[in-house]
Amino acid sequence: MLHLLKHPLLTHKLAILRNKATPMREFRHTLKEIAGLMAYEITRDLPVRKITVETPIGSCETEELAKDVVLVPVLRAGLGMADGISNLISSARIGHIGMYRDHVTLTPMTYYAKFPDNLPQAVVMVLDPMLATGGSSSDAITILKNNGATIIKLVCVVGAPEGVSKIENDHPDVQIYLAALDEKLNDIGYIVPGLGDAGDRLFGTK
Ligand code: PRP
Ligand code: URA
Repeated sequence: MLHLLKHPLLTHKLAILRNKATPMREFRHTLKEIAGLMAYEITRDLPVRKITVETPIGSCETEELAKDVVLVPVLRAGLGMADGISNLISSARIGHIGMYRDHVTLTPMTYYAKFPDNLPQAVVMVLDPMLATGGSSSDAITILKNNGATIIKLVCVVGAPEGVSKIENDHPDVQIYLAALDEKLNDIGYIVPGLGDAGDRLFGTK
């Protein structure tokens, strides 16, 4: 299921990421801010449990989060989203999946995976700014399921229709969150208009 998040602040900040004149430092800062803004919607359905706290004035029946949250940034570019969300959910543990697309075949190649042991009980959020062909996100979700994850949300910033369709086909149980659904992929697998190569812009490698 696709959730397309619409908010003037998100659109404004995404325009900064899209702008090719935006320098690395501002790109990094803005991606983190966008992830933080998206956190509000991606956590909307988290289960809560009743608790009682003592305020300075008296007793208060209230609620707290009932499930662990695990964030799983897909390296490299997903790293740029992790702090924006973990700043708001300080109890979230963080796993990592290292993956890159073969430049010719666009096939995702996995080079690293490490997860906390509460994966099966947790709400797991896969973080990657770009959902292009969907190959990387789909493989990341498969790896998480093979490691016991049961509740998985995919949080991307910009998506292409091809990537959304792939996730809906491969993983119909996964909720997809996007700040923008762009037009298409070009012939070398980049999102049009997109924002270019997220990893390179985030880490200054080009
Ligand atoms: C980018 C991006 C995604 C992937 C999306 O990573 O961060 O992980 O491409 O493409 P897909 O949907 O077609 O699989 P990249 O392979 O460039 O690796 P990097 O982050 O290390 O640069
Ligand atoms: N990966 C990126 O970083 N950008 C795209 O447009 C597609 C895949």
